[in-house]
Amino acid sequence: MPDSLNTPNDLAPFWMPFTANRQFKSNPRLFVKAEGMHYTTSDNRQVLDGTAGLWCVNAGHAQPKIVEAIQQQAQELDYAPAFQMGHPKAFELAARLVAMIPGDLDHVFFTNSGSESVDTALKIALAYHRAKGDASRTRLIGRERGYHGVGFGGISVGGIVNNRRFFGSLLAGVDHMRHTHDPARNAFSRGQPEHGAELADDLERIVALHGAETIAAVIVEPMAGSTGVLMPPKGYLERLRAICDKYGILLIFDEVITGFGRLGSPFAVDHFGVMPDIVTTAKGVSNGAVPMGAVFVRKGIYDAFMNGPENAIELFHGYTYSAHPLACAAALATLDVYREQDLFQRCADLAPYFEDAVHSLKDLPHVIDVRNMGLVAGIELEARPGAPTARAFEAFLKCYDKGVLIRTTGDIIALSPPLIVDKAQIDTIVGTIADVLKDIA
Ligand SMILES: Cc1ncc(COP(=O)(O)O)c(C=O)c1O
Repeated sequence: MPDSLNTPNDLAPFWMPFTANRQFKSNPRLFVKAEGMHYTTSDNRQVLDGTAGLWCVNAGHAQPKIVEAIQQQAQELDYAPAFQMGHPKAFELAARLVAMIPGDLDHVFFTNSGSESVDTALKIALAYHRAKGDASRTRLIGRERGYHGVGFGGISVGGIVNNRRFFGSLLAGVDHMRHTHDPARNAFSRGQPEHGAELADDLERIVALHGAETIAAVIVEPMAGSTGVLMPPKGYLERLRAICDKYGILLIFDEVITGFGRLGSPFAVDHFGVMPDIVTTAKGVSNGAVPMGAVFVRKGIYDAFMNGPENAIELFHGYTYSAHPLACAAALATLDVYREQDLFQRCADLAPYFEDAVHSLKDLPHVIDVRNMGLVAGIELEARPGAPTARAFEAFLKCYDKGVLIRTTGDIIALSPPLIVDKAQIDTIVGTIADVLKDIA
């Protein structure tokens, strides 16, 4: 389709994010419409969404209630200044969100993306210790293979080499724990793998190296999605919590993917029963319909800032579009849809069927691991010698040609269908992947 590069619909000017631009523009894949579980392509084909867009459209596409809420809000109040002013839906949404999440995570800071949520959480952690008079706690600890978005904070604590290596020296004072991926002991686990709780003790090593009094916070994804779907080993998160408690380190869960039902509970906090101090979310909060993120903090964190003169700003942080009216309207409607259609329970009910379906791929060519939890699965392929990622990318293209959208990261296929998926659609997604795996070299 190179001719199209000279038409008014020129594909050239748009520098696409996390995309092989030249490959894409030589053979573009364009969606023009979406409803329920399906996208419609520009050549009028239906494509079954095996990835909830990018892990965000948890309630499926074009839910009428969400569409109407956005339309109405655009007419009623398009924008209100985010600083020193407010609008009612921002407060209503915050109240509903804190009522949903367990424990005393009872204040919310709004952002526009997962990356902004992560940078917000890291800044709050640093400023919190300072507000308490603990200003030596400036180090941030992440984990190898972590994905925390693309801000400088997020890539600094993140642990995916290509997201870091091109961007200079990143934030100072960051260290990383070992990742938990251990296929030699845990391949083909269903749910949480048996082995690896002791990897949390890597935090003890970092504490011994730097001194606990220099460490502000540890950030992990309770279930790591974008790096290729890595489940926390049994006991790992509990141990991490205990070590953070021992040394006064804040624990941040990055729930940008796990939040809003993906594991069959509202949050991973519920699913694993481990209480962090800060939770970052985005994506599913507004069903991907309007960009939004939300950072939850425990009561004591908010309170630590509420000192000083009452007319003084307590936290010098925020975005022009924090709690944007359209995003708030979309999120409130999204929460209604989750509740009215009981989608988190639906996810939990479907999870065993989904688990059996994805594990049926075990003996197919190239498959070296299958792992799953809730409505998430990772299918790891053996890399082609000398050509990492090529096999999975070919699988992605072939699935798309056959009408199924999957996502790949490295040589791992990541599945995360909208929570409205049904059993026949799960069969279609998995059956298409099976056909493709038999077909590719
Ligand atoms: C765990 C996690 N954190 C942060 C992000 C970044 O979110 P965004 O792309 O909205 O900035 C993602 C995106 O996939 C994510 O999975």
